[in-house]
Amino acid sequence: MSTTVLSARALSVLLGDWRHHSGTLAQALADRVRLLVLDGRIALGARLPAERQLADHEGVSRTTVAAAYARLRELGYLVSRRGSGSVTALPAGDAPAFDVVDRPDMLDFSKATLPALPAVVDAAAAAVARLPQHLGLAGFDLYGLDEVRQAIADRFTARGLPTSADEIMVTLGAQRAIALIAQALVGRGDRVLVENPSYPHALEAFSSAGARLVGVPVSTEHGWDDEAFEQLLPRSAPCLAYLMPDLHNPTSATMPAAQRERVAALADRHGTRIVVDETMVDLAFDPATVQVPMASCSPRIITVGSVGKSIWGGIRLGWIRADRETIGELARARPAGDLGSPTLEQLLLSELLQRFDGLVAERTAQLRAGEQLLRALLSERFPEWRLPEVDGGLVLWTNLGRPVASEFALLARAEGVQLGAGPRFSIDGAFERYLRLPFCYPETLTRRAVDAMERAWERLGPARADVPDDDALVTTVV
Ligand SMILES: Cc1ncc(COP(=O)(O)O)c(C=O)c1O
Repeated sequence: MSTTVLSARALSVLLGDWRHHSGTLAQALADRVRLLVLDGRIALGARLPAERQLADHEGVSRTTVAAAYARLRELGYLVSRRGSGSVTALPAGDAPAFDVVDRPDMLDFSKATLPALPAVVDAAAAAVARLPQHLGLAGFDLYGLDEVRQAIADRFTARGLPTSADEIMVTLGAQRAIALIAQALVGRGDRVLVENPSYPHALEAFSSAGARLVGVPVSTEHGWDDEAFEQLLPRSAPCLAYLMPDLHNPTSATMPAAQRERVAALADRHGTRIVVDETMVDLAFDPATVQVPMASCSPRIITVGSVGKSIWGGIRLGWIRADRETIGELARARPAGDLGSPTLEQLLLSELLQRFDGLVAERTAQLRAGEQLLRALLSERFPEWRLPEVDGGLVLWTNLGRPVASEFALLARAEGVQLGAGPRFSIDGAFERYLRLPFCYPETLTRRAVDAMERAWERLGPARADVPDDDALVTTVV
């Protein structure tokens, strides 16, 4: 088996600012590596850099790194292989007892997935009833059934962006759409502008295509920074910019109309194609706040969408909207990754799109209630945390007030809840002060997760006086 070799530099990017921790430096380093392995950000079987190299790179003593590696070995996260150095692993079932055991009742709050809307059952029955008409054909296709492409195009038109069916491709969810765009339009070594923080699996798709990621900051309070676009687009000349202007994941920020115009004009001027991910757009609490699609700002913009959040992720379908030429280019590249979208699921999607507005209203009512509940519980139990105001979406990008998200996530795991710590959403290991907390789970699960978080927060202990307050950092590090 070939081993991935992690250089000290590559590990350092993943580690981010790991020193903020209530324990020793060695514990802090071991905990950060542990979380990276558990999160899948360091592959299993990857070889970690030699102790001396990592120590030099991180500016710590070799003893610190040796102690961290020893702890990881003790816990089962690192094994020594003759000729391969120290490689990452997961603890075996019979590993010595330690404080982070995956429990069978583990709640996964690191994901923001939703149960299906009940209407899926009737729609599926109607789709099955129509299936016989299609059984003589292949059962899958690269572009999508005409009726489905037309229904998706009609939704764009209704939102203020005239669209025809041949500008639409039905894909296997938004994720495959993003991966296909990356595979077809990004060359090895090309730069891709992404928001920082961003949706991790899109970052992985662009990185897998060989892209070098360039981050533009986005925050719940301040949204997107015009100046960052003005500096980065000419300087980095990215081939693509992947943006989520509608209920951005994870901050839930929405880009104002005037800024969309400015960013699109700037991107056109510098030859950068914008890929807009609209996966969250239907999750606005108030439909009146939904903007005209950003693609109305430029014919070069490619838009990705999905019903994975609005209706159910189990319908593995989404779409791409682009000019006909780009749709053709993507269709030619598609078979290398998948051969097309299945007919039965498309018939189901077609049924659901006919009653889409009612379904979205049902979904957003659920989410609004979920947001109120999570906000109330967090405000009561963690008064020091800062909760953003959101207009929709699935998550609260919560500021813990101190850079302890990774350490807290490990403690929470031991208490039975898996959390999305800020660095998971970062291109450079930053956002140690943030947690992405979903409000899309049923009340009993949300309450259980908050109880577990409360126990973990208690175990974390009070803030250390020598860790600078994040606001102080913001004002001094420009
Ligand atoms: C921003 C964003 N884009 C794309 C996806 C993937 O969507 P799909 O389930 O349609 O593949 C997700 C799923 O979480 C997402 O949050």
